[in-house]
Amino acid sequence: MCGIIGYVGRRPAVPVVVEGLHRLEYRGYDSAGVAFVRNNSFRVIRAKGKLGALEEKLASEQTTTATCAMGHTRWATHGVPAERNAHPHCSNDDSLAIVHNGIIENFQELKAELAAKGYVFYSETDTEVLVNLIAECRKDEPELLRAFAAALRRARGAYAVCLMERNAPDTFYAARMSAPLIFGLGTGENFAASDIPAFLPYTRKVIFLDDGDIVRATARDYDIFRLENLEPVAHEPQTVLWDMQAAQKNGYRHYMLKEIFEQPRVMTDVLAGRISEQGDSVLFPELDSLPVPVRLHIVACGTSWHSALWGRHLLEDWARIPVQVEIASEFRHRDNFLFERDEMALVISQSGETADTLAALRIARERGATVIGLCNIIGSSIAREATAVLYTQAGPEISVASTKAMCSQMLMLALLALYWQARRGNTDESRQIPRGQRISALVSLPAVLGDALSAMHEKARELSRKYAKADNFFYLGRGHCFPLALEGALKLKELSYIHAEGYAAGEMKHGPIALVDPAFPTFAIAPDDPLFPKTKSNIVEVQARQGKVIALTNEGTDLSADDIWTIPRLPSPLAGFVVLPALQLFSYEMADYLGKDVDQPRNLAKSVTVE
Ligand code: M6R
Repeated sequence: MCGIIGYVGRRPAVPVVVEGLHRLEYRGYDSAGVAFVRNNSFRVIRAKGKLGALEEKLASEQTTTATCAMGHTRWATHGVPAERNAHPHCSNDDSLAIVHNGIIENFQELKAELAAKGYVFYSETDTEVLVNLIAECRKDEPELLRAFAAALRRARGAYAVCLMERNAPDTFYAARMSAPLIFGLGTGENFAASDIPAFLPYTRKVIFLDDGDIVRATARDYDIFRLENLEPVAHEPQTVLWDMQAAQKNGYRHYMLKEIFEQPRVMTDVLAGRISEQGDSVLFPELDSLPVPVRLHIVACGTSWHSALWGRHLLEDWARIPVQVEIASEFRHRDNFLFERDEMALVISQSGETADTLAALRIARERGATVIGLCNIIGSSIAREATAVLYTQAGPEISVASTKAMCSQMLMLALLALYWQARRGNTDESRQIPRGQRISALVSLPAVLGDALSAMHEKARELSRKYAKADNFFYLGRGHCFPLALEGALKLKELSYIHAEGYAAGEMKHGPIALVDPAFPTFAIAPDDPLFPKTKSNIVEVQARQGKVIALTNEGTDLSADDIWTIPRLPSPLAGFVVLPALQLFSYEMADYLGKDVDQPRNLAKSVTVE
């Protein structure tokens, strides 16, 4: 939930680190700090709040001589957001400084042991315990690499850490266990960071470190060792294809807006290479050697869970595969869950690092299931631990609110449904729309959305001015639109802090409708599909209680509402591909109009690597 970066090289290190922190700020932003060595002692500058507060402090610091530095941007786990809990943390003897993302689960026990030896703690963090443990181990192991490994072997939990030593200011160390850490190889400079964009302006050559790897890096050299025995390991560097443009705002006011507008391009990328030359079949060579699941258990969190709920409709309807969708934090604690033969798990995660989803993957694998990972981040933990991985090709998603990632997941699920439908071969195509027609509909999506986005943005802006005073919102949908109602509500609450509930439209009359009054508007998702008449009835029920309604529908439907928002007509259930950006744009405009921090909403972090 935090972002870390270490740098050593030929440039002034502190500006490189601070720039990297800006690109990691989506991971946490309640405090930040940097450390470097000046005149043989550590300078540790930390500030509560966003990076701007740290930069103000750094403005009066002499930083230019340091060529090695590390930095941290924090999402609080142990200890409130405060300067004393911000990283880096130093050992009591000031010989070592550390930055850490993760949680050391046994830190209380280690802290008590160190306190008994006279160590003093100035923060409430587990990280300060770790750095002092390394200092303590060093009493028996003078070589820092060995002391670092000895301390890490005693730590239980998750960590990605960077470590520096006062007496060797041209070297940093880094290690990972169940938290992301990528090593970047530059020319005459090296990096380690929680995510690639942190060092993307300088290099695209990376090593995805494994759990249990320890790195020692200088400007010209690096070595990677295994934690358990300090045996050297060789990882082949890889070149990432992302460019800096993908990780920048490119003239948009916010990353979120840019990412919403990127969705036609994302869909084109998802489709690339997935459709046969004849246009009549879907290709997933990654899955050809695996059986078609007799039942699929999809596990995910947040927006990825909503994608799963949406995808279930297509997998069941098109591929005729029974699907169960689970929230990862619930699934991981269902101790008696068993997979039957040829049942499969599919875990969906943009980041590939969400702790609950990763735990679910591990449990499913332990119980003998084949697990497919659907991830955006290449080399992420889920991507590496799944039996097979499918990448969603959405590119870096910087805004904390997930947008284009969901669009890419939905399209991958639609393609998967068609792929498995063909492999099963025994589905009754006569009662279905021909596969070729469905493929053509998917191929047309980027153009349909590309043409519609600007007008949708205009409409979203207009509606936001009218509804921004609401304190509550209902989002209603039926069938494939119910997961979209959940997503619309999630986007509104996470961005504008307006209370919003997503409901299956037919459930309203079982209780929630009691809340409806003229000040409690409803956003109804009502495309012209077989369920339209039923959704329309629910809209009328809301209106009968003086509830105001925004209806997202198609031209020509017989519907009256306070605000009708027409979207391009797509065959059901593909309407989701235009419904989704409408919901995203509405939430975006509401939040921006209300002056909220769109890209970094309060209390959140992009990648939830804690349970
Ligand atoms: O990286 P993941 O897809 O596993 O993340 C899951 C959720 O944390 C994420 O979708 C979250 O709900 C978003 N902030 C929603 O916008």
